[in-house]
Amino acid sequence: MATSPASSSSYPALTYSDALTLASRGHALAAVDARLLLQHVTGATIAQIVSYPGRQLGPIDRMRFESLVARRAAGEPIAYLLGEREFYSRPFVVTPAVLIPRPETEGLVDAALARLPVDCMAGLVDLGTGSGCVGITLALERPQSRVLAIDASVDAIGVARRNATALQCANIDFVIGDWLQGIDGHRLAMIVGNPPYISADDAHLGQGDLRFEPRAALTPGDDALSAVREIILQAPAALAAGGWLILEHGHEQGPIVRQLLAGSGFTDVFSDRDLAGHERITGGRLPD
Ligand SMILES: C[S@@+](CC[C@H](N)C(=O)[O-])C[C@H]1O[C@@H](n2cnc3c(N)ncnc32)[C@H](O)[C@@H]1O
Repeated sequence: MATSPASSSSYPALTYSDALTLASRGHALAAVDARLLLQHVTGATIAQIVSYPGRQLGPIDRMRFESLVARRAAGEPIAYLLGEREFYSRPFVVTPAVLIPRPETEGLVDAALARLPVDCMAGLVDLGTGSGCVGITLALERPQSRVLAIDASVDAIGVARRNATALQCANIDFVIGDWLQGIDGHRLAMIVGNPPYISADDAHLGQGDLRFEPRAALTPGDDALSAVREIILQAPAALAAGGWLILEHGHEQGPIVRQLLAGSGFTDVFSDRDLAGHERITGGRLPD
């Protein structure tokens, strides 16, 4: 990269090896984060970084690397710094406007796909789409279906649209909206959603990555289950007979979500556990 002599002398070149040492020893970054940031800045592969430790970063790359390392050391999520997170083996653009897709949410997709035939041509809804990771994955895995992805955040819908374009997903539409308001009468085969389910006074909101994620993506307010309750009340009017509603929720909320579904007339109510053994996904279907 071309630089002026003045900037070269204030920012002397740094080798890959020096850069990794600076990040891990100087800023206490995890080795994996240091390597990911170096790859991001230089465009080098892991193999190139390992094979050519003496290769130099130019002054501008050095500045960018140091800035990202400082931001990571201050707690900014690595996914926001890289601008990307993998979900269901596909890369999704993420910005601070959207929740960072979580591995547990892949369980929501698994639960949905297990109940949708491969040649499903039905209408599906993804509530609170965020980055679009759930809705786009369902649309790509069931290419004959039509997915409607809804979010209250204009900025999140912008990111989700970007992801749909980048992943060449054509069978999905995006709507800015408040859960299922205005969607009744659609006779959908399935509604899935990962709504906010953390109470506003939960101390976790002040910790780790959560500090940087959109608050509206994490908490619906003082009542952790208010969004879940609203969706369960609205869903029967939008679903076809036999249609499924499947929601992600907090690890202690399985029993109450099952109770709410049963109370709204859903049958075949189930809960799936995450890899840690916690109930995280609960769903049910309307009677035929
Ligand atoms: C937990 S995030 C889920 C994002 C994404 N589906 C995922 O799993 O990574 C919840 C999403 O619900 C959206 N949301 C919050 N309140 C909403 C509402 N009343 N109507 C629609 N979407 C809402 C937030 O903007 C956020 O994108």
